[in-house]
Amino acid sequence: MVEEIKRERKNKLIDCFGRNIDYLRLSVTDRCDLKCVYCHPPHKINYLDRSEICSYWELLQVVKVASKLGIDKVRLTGGELFLRKDIIEFISSLHEIEELKEIVLTTNGTSLLPHLKRLKEIGIRRINISLDTLSEDLFYRITGSHRFFTVLEGIQRALEEGFMIKVNMVVLRGINETEITEFIKYFLKNSVEVRFIEFMPLCGPGWREDYFFSYEKMKEIIKKKFDIHPLLSSGVAQEFVLKDRNGLKGKIGIIAPVTRSFCSSCSRLRLSASGELRPCLFSRTKVELLPILRGNLSLREKEKMIREAFKEAVKMKPVSMSKDHDADDIYIRSLGG
Ligand code: 5AD
Repeated sequence: MVEEIKRERKNKLIDCFGRNIDYLRLSVTDRCDLKCVYCHPPHKINYLDRSEICSYWELLQVVKVASKLGIDKVRLTGGELFLRKDIIEFISSLHEIEELKEIVLTTNGTSLLPHLKRLKEIGIRRINISLDTLSEDLFYRITGSHRFFTVLEGIQRALEEGFMIKVNMVVLRGINETEITEFIKYFLKNSVEVRFIEFMPLCGPGWREDYFFSYEKMKEIIKKKFDIHPLLSSGVAQEFVLKDRNGLKGKIGIIAPVTRSFCSSCSRLRLSASGELRPCLFSRTKVELLPILRGNLSLREKEKMIREAFKEAVKMKPVSMSKDHDADDIYIRSLGG
């Protein structure tokens, strides 16, 4: 029995603090068609050269190895994942990896509509959509895009097709915190779980301390209009069931990486579009996979090295996120949101 448990542990990714790592966030591109104020600096961006981006074949090799180490959930992100050509074919090949129990997507919703049918056929069930406002004008001011109604239509059609949708709103003081109640009402009616996210110090000049709006402040606003009860949640979001006086009921979440760290339940690694495997969104350390993937090695050797790389990245996982990082170091666009 002891041997069996030891063997099982050896083939799992368990970090120094006993956390089981079974979730990989995979950024497939650093390109995005929205230029959100907090994410996209006003100056010219140095995008990755095509040659620096992992091919689908390379990504598949990585996920296959990871899945044998206990990674059974993959979230595809970007940039904006639907900007990458043939993404549907890639999702479909990922879906063939037996060990993967769940493939989920995070998108800005601008190109969702034309892909919904195929996503459903492939078997994708859950999609997270980033949306920070219900005002067309403010959408333009935040994102620089006029595609507000395209996003709303995408959400509506996704619901009609039976997808489980979560909408993520980054709450920014003085910009959109006045919309919290409206968001809950609008999306609850439509069976969408809204998750309010604390603004994190990332993305260079995109970060502004005065935009920060805390979990407690969000809760205060919500409590004014709704009865809320916290749920025991194991994920990154603190979930609440809530109802208002008119009988509107449902569930919402608040993700508070800044004031209520959820590091103790972290189960994730991140892979950037250029093949950097990161132990934490806020860590400077990483393991580069591209040299392995493109090295002059046999497939078996590559697999072995990728396996080692995952174990190394897991060993690097900090007990909690570093508070001394500089917002300039980390760009969510290339690392995966
Ligand atoms: N703080 C919090 N969330 C952020 N996102 C991007 N930058 C930040 C930040 N600095 C969010 C996006 C999207 C998800 C992928 O990450 O708005 O919801």
